[in-house]
Amino acid sequence: MQTVAVIGAGQMGSGIAQVVAQAGLKVLLSDVSVELAENAKAKIAKGLLRLVQKDKITESAVAEALSLIVPVGDYAPMAEADLIIEAATEREEIKHRIFEAAGKVLAPGAIMASNTSSIPITRMAVSSPDPARFIGVHFFNPVPVMKLVEVIPGLATSRETVAAVRGFVARLGKEAVQSEDEAGFIVNRILVPMLNEACFVLGSGTASVADIDKGCRLGLNHPMGALELADFIGLDTCLEIMRVIHASTGDSKYRPAPLLAKYVEAGWLGRKSGKGFYDYSGETPVPTR
Ligand code: 3HC
Repeated sequence: MQTVAVIGAGQMGSGIAQVVAQAGLKVLLSDVSVELAENAKAKIAKGLLRLVQKDKITESAVAEALSLIVPVGDYAPMAEADLIIEAATEREEIKHRIFEAAGKVLAPGAIMASNTSSIPITRMAVSSPDPARFIGVHFFNPVPVMKLVEVIPGLATSRETVAAVRGFVARLGKEAVQSEDEAGFIVNRILVPMLNEACFVLGSGTASVADIDKGCRLGLNHPMGALELADFIGLDTCLEIMRVIHASTGDSKYRPAPLLAKYVEAGWLGRKSGKGFYDYSGETPVPTR
């Protein structure tokens, strides 16, 4: 594998582009405009330079990684990619459109993957040119720090595709776990209902934001409290994952917490919008209730 295309230059796509380039592979990074992809590359550069200041990597390693990241404005250059990873917004109709458009340039033998956090792979594979070469590769945020990648074959995914993607994950220095194609896969199926439950706990007045998060940090040894982590992931993403798991299982225990839906309706999406369960406008985050 030599060239990887990443579609979507947000938090996840940028993180994926960074680790792929750091592993010595060329990355074609795209978003809805080439300017957005260029901005994402500039942010990656900033993050890498912080690591230089901490003596974690050398300046020449940064220069080498950045030289491998090529922002692109459309799908045509992706004809040279061995692997195309979609890391766009967690909305199924958007993903289907991407697979159809990028599928037109997918090279024979190349693999198309989705970094979806919960949408079934088999369902999305129908929009790709060859479901045997379609697979889920689910990274965790922050991608440069988190060791895990979930590998999710769909019904038609070939063994060769699974083996190639597991090899790619190993090349990034990450660990793979393999999941059946069930909504939420392994980690989000466990994690996001817990975050949703924290919203129910808050909504029922059982405890404050600060105490719920302190409880998770000190009582469970989690690095972040549940509400802090929900803000970090994005409340819209958490809500979408709950909706997908709820719809797919039909089990009412997965119904999204009304408070979570309300925050999303208000545009309080967590860190990325500056406000969620915490307000991020000051030096330190302050609980919003
Ligand atoms: N890029 C590179 N390195 C980074 C980084 C980034 N974006 N963010 C943090 N780091 C590094 C720091 O350099 C530091 O390295 P060091 O220990 O070697 O000096 C280390 O990570 C710790 O960072 P900080 O000291 O700045 O901050 P914390 O100790 O508070 O850790 C955290 C931050 C790593 C985010 C930690 O709080 C954490 O692990 N939180 C939980 C994250 C989590 O659960 N992620 C999964 C979310 S679920 C998901 O992504 C799935 C999706 O589908 C929803």
